[in-house]
Amino acid sequence: LVLVLDFGGQYNQLIARRVREANVYCEVIPYNSSIDRIKSMNPKGIILTGGPASVLDKNAPFCDKEVFSLGIPVLGICYGMQLMTYMLGGDVKKADSREYGKVDITFDVSSTLFKGIDKESTCWMSHTYFVDKMPEGFVKTAHSENCPTAAMENTQKKLYGVQFHPEVLHTPRGRDILNNFLFDICGCSGDWKVSSFVEQSIQDIRKRVGDKKVLCALSGGVDSSVAAVLIHRAVGKQLTCIFVDHGLLRKYEADQVEEIFRNKFDINLIRVNAEERFLNRLAGVTDPETKRKIIGEEFIRVFEEEAKKIGTVDFLVQGTIYPDVIESGLGNAAVIKSHHNVGGLPDHVDFKEIIEPLRSLFKDEVRLVGKELGIPDEIVMRQPFPGPGLGIRIIGEITKEKLEILRDTDYIFREEIAKAGLDKEINQYFTVLTGMRSVGVMGDERTYDYTLALRAVTTTDFMTADWARIPYDVLEKVSNRIVNEVKHINRIVYDITSKPPATIEWE
Ligand code: XMP
Repeated sequence: LVLVLDFGGQYNQLIARRVREANVYCEVIPYNSSIDRIKSMNPKGIILTGGPASVLDKNAPFCDKEVFSLGIPVLGICYGMQLMTYMLGGDVKKADSREYGKVDITFDVSSTLFKGIDKESTCWMSHTYFVDKMPEGFVKTAHSENCPTAAMENTQKKLYGVQFHPEVLHTPRGRDILNNFLFDICGCSGDWKVSSFVEQSIQDIRKRVGDKKVLCALSGGVDSSVAAVLIHRAVGKQLTCIFVDHGLLRKYEADQVEEIFRNKFDINLIRVNAEERFLNRLAGVTDPETKRKIIGEEFIRVFEEEAKKIGTVDFLVQGTIYPDVIESGLGNAAVIKSHHNVGGLPDHVDFKEIIEPLRSLFKDEVRLVGKELGIPDEIVMRQPFPGPGLGIRIIGEITKEKLEILRDTDYIFREEIAKAGLDKEINQYFTVLTGMRSVGVMGDERTYDYTLALRAVTTTDFMTADWARIPYDVLEKVSNRIVNEVKHINRIVYDITSKPPATIEWE
């Protein structure tokens, strides 16, 4: 295990990613984690990340100083190196101008950290402060034109610092530098596998839970499903899952969730059919954010009512994954849409502790864990589906009739995309009931019916997205089938806007 102490830098996620890509298990923990916690995790190495602060700030984030004297190798990156300097008695200064972008670095002395790296190499820099005087016992191992100490080390104490960012791809040999740290300096073996994560988690969960009771809100999404099965593997019937069917799910989705979790996995599952309740609360509501709020609140309320029937439980499972931790914790991104399922915890459920078995994993790793646990692809590989479900894909008021129309059209669209073999390439695709009506003609009859929009995007992070270039013949097939098979749709349009300026969902 390698620990990454998080000081809020924008590339922190990448550091963890790179370590994991070297098949070394790593966890990201807050910079101010107690030294006891760090020791108890028994890491082979510690990486201090970059961060937006300066060590000279009044409230600069500091880690426990003992981190530097545990005898465990430490690599400080950017802010991490400056912190190491400052806490060990060196000097950090503000530069006249910020150094940003690709910079030529000269490696001055041979160092295990830079084994196999050319003496002159391009690295990615992004800093305003720099190490002016190294702490005692350190030697300078690299410099650039504007940065006198671009890297330093104290091999005796196993302390290493780099001002540049080895974790970004703009540092072409960055991966090798990190690997040198992991393998040659920390002595990691690089044999971490998903199966070892599963085994280790099961043991940890068993130890932590003992014979106590665990409650999980299962949505049928990738994260909560994998979390539930993992916990079930560890503690079996001590786990109860509550699945709230808010009536805004896709066609057959609720039954499928029940089939898989109750029948295939034999998990204690409480399914709550709450469609009427949600529809009543949503009657007449047209504003997207109000819809989200109502759905989020009602969801928690239904969950709480069911949980109350069970009585006190000891643990509540959250399907939090690593990107959620970043997005809801240290990021400052403005709220464009309030994603209710991030950070929404029930207030009135009696539980003592939260258990988040996937907290350290990236989405693709969660999927691998899911596969390892035998969860079918239709759950593990499924496209993202928003918490408020079809509720934000019906523009304007939500009614039962509109939901039926939307479900049927969405089903056809998904079926045709899969048939055309496009379901892996296109990252999210669905239909939107626009609420607009227009005139059409069917047989000899004039119709006045809804316009349906098809939305399909390619994206890696869902923060930006491009519209998918679906072949015309596939679009034609989808259009023909929908107007023929689904009543009240007489016109279909294809959304060809990217994000930004549009968003993926229409509401
Ligand atoms: P937008 O529409 O903001 O969507 O471009 C980006 C991604 O987030 C999903 N999304 C949501 N997920 N609750 C969720 O859990 C929400 O309220 C919500 N709104 C959007 C969307 O499906 C896409 O994957």
